Amino acid sequence: DQSLKALAARHNLAIGTAISNDALAEPQYKAIATQQFSSVTHENAMKWESLEPTRGTYNWGPADALIDFAKKNNQKVRGHVLVWHNQLPAWLTEGVANGTISKTELRDLLKKHITTVVKRYKGKIWQWDVVNEAASDPWDSPSEIHLKGFWAQNLGPTYIADAFRWARAADPHALLFYNDYNMEAFGDRGPSDKVWFIYNLIKNLRAQGVPIDGFGSQGHLGTQYGNFDAFQVKEVLDAFSDLGMVSAFTEVDVRSQMTAGVQAGDSNEINPRLQASASNFSVLLQACLLNRNCLSYTVWGFTDKHSWVPTWFTDPPEGLATLYDENYQPKRAYNSIKSDL
Ligand code: XIL
Repeated sequence: DQSLKALAARHNLAIGTAISNDALAEPQYKAIATQQFSSVTHENAMKWESLEPTRGTYNWGPADALIDFAKKNNQKVRGHVLVWHNQLPAWLTEGVANGTISKTELRDLLKKHITTVVKRYKGKIWQWDVVNEAASDPWDSPSEIHLKGFWAQNLGPTYIADAFRWARAADPHALLFYNDYNMEAFGDRGPSDKVWFIYNLIKNLRAQGVPIDGFGSQGHLGTQYGNFDAFQVKEVLDAFSDLGMVSAFTEVDVRSQMTAGVQAGDSNEINPRLQASASNFSVLLQACLLNRNCLSYTVWGFTDKHSWVPTWFTDPPEGLATLYDENYQPKRAYNSIKSDL
């Protein structure tokens, strides 16, 4: 068996992918999702706006469907995501904005959300992304890294410790992760203040007994940033390992700018950017393999046919960010990570 999941199993590593519920209806998509990957993540179905679009009325169907799919296929599940500032239900954000939901009530609602979701899937989730993207970026203002977004603004910094404690209480056996992007930012972009901000935050919280088990590095890269260095990326993971934590790459993809003759569906050989893409996919996998407790390497979708990149990165347009092209043919990046395993 030369599948990614079989090769990765020899390293005790899970290879995962985000899954779009709609795409699972396609036989080719379903076949690759089943044959190549040993872990799955809901691309959107576990987000608060998907689970509770109307206050008090839960829509569990799509989330349950992927849990059942994973069980049937002997796959682990990375739960994504409990606390994030994006994809929140409108009733929640509007309620806070117009003052009908007070800060006290908001905290209670967050506790109820975490408790309800984590309890429902107790024993079925391997790793939970408890808090996602809490830190600002260097290009934000002020440029000094700080806690950003809806939760920090409305509840203050204590929401992070609360969230992890509530999640632990609801499922003591799930591994609880802090997850963020631009955490592999070494090499061309220099050591990142964001990495050390998060590192210090987690170090302090753990010293206070807050149950943060894992560090998730999303791994959304672009070929325009050049090639990353596996040993430098490994150093970031090692820093968290030294705190006693496990690690994972949670949303790997490598986008390319669709300029200068780059077409969706460009084949492996035509475009040097596909080479750079393959290299960056490899660097993150190698860093994971070099770190002593990197548990999983998850890609954020596996085919250019179903990738969030073209819809999100439009100026300039970007794409070609996954392991398979739009016709489900493996690209150079696929061969590259396969040979690393
Ligand atoms: C993205 C999904 O892929 C899109 O379909 C959705 O419209 C927006 O969110 N970081 C995360 C993921 O943690 O949840 C995001 O997923 C991509 C960035």
